[in-house]
Amino acid sequence: IAITLLMITAAYIAGSISSAILVCKLRRLPDPRTNGSGNPGATNVLRIGGASSAAMVLFFDMLKGAAPSYIGYKIGLDAPSLGFIAIAACLGHIFPLFFGFKGGKGVATAFGAMAPIGGDLAITLMITWAVLVFITRYSSVAAMATAVLAPVYTWFFDERFVLPAAMLSTLILIRHKDNIERLRIGEESKVSRKKKA
Ligand code: G3P
Repeated sequence: IAITLLMITAAYIAGSISSAILVCKLRRLPDPRTNGSGNPGATNVLRIGGASSAAMVLFFDMLKGAAPSYIGYKIGLDAPSLGFIAIAACLGHIFPLFFGFKGGKGVATAFGAMAPIGGDLAITLMITWAVLVFITRYSSVAAMATAVLAPVYTWFFDERFVLPAAMLSTLILIRHKDNIERLRIGEESKVSRKKKA
């Protein structure tokens, strides 16, 4: 139990490192919290800074989810503990310790956190998300639809993780409240190839 609690804390701290804010600072780009959609995540960095910065954010946001759950998996923690570690990493991203508890939406971190505990599941979810972005051109719509499908997929891949997946999905959906409102009034911006949206 001590190890599990330590890993949950470590996952929360890792999750709190906002790749979007740091990459934008390092590359002297505008702050993603006050530009574009205001969300510190890969999608918004794509709007603000282009594809290479967005790819870095996506990679590091996934890594900070994947690393603690990989370590937890390797040291033989049980499924509920791994589920809590994945949720803790996403909670760190959403409510970061280092950035006034104002973070992102947890999509990339959730994909990363799931990879070590269900590689096939994580890949299926990422493909679902990518196909939906391609079809709809809305990162948020793709993320929300993938979040709804996640517990269903998890049921097929590994039923031990259905509850943590449903909890993560709920968090992700709640965090898309502003996107839902923007979609409703027709102001949500689409993912485009242009550097600035
Ligand atoms: O992963 C976040 C995405 O679903 C929406 O981001 O910047 O369009 O609010 P954004």
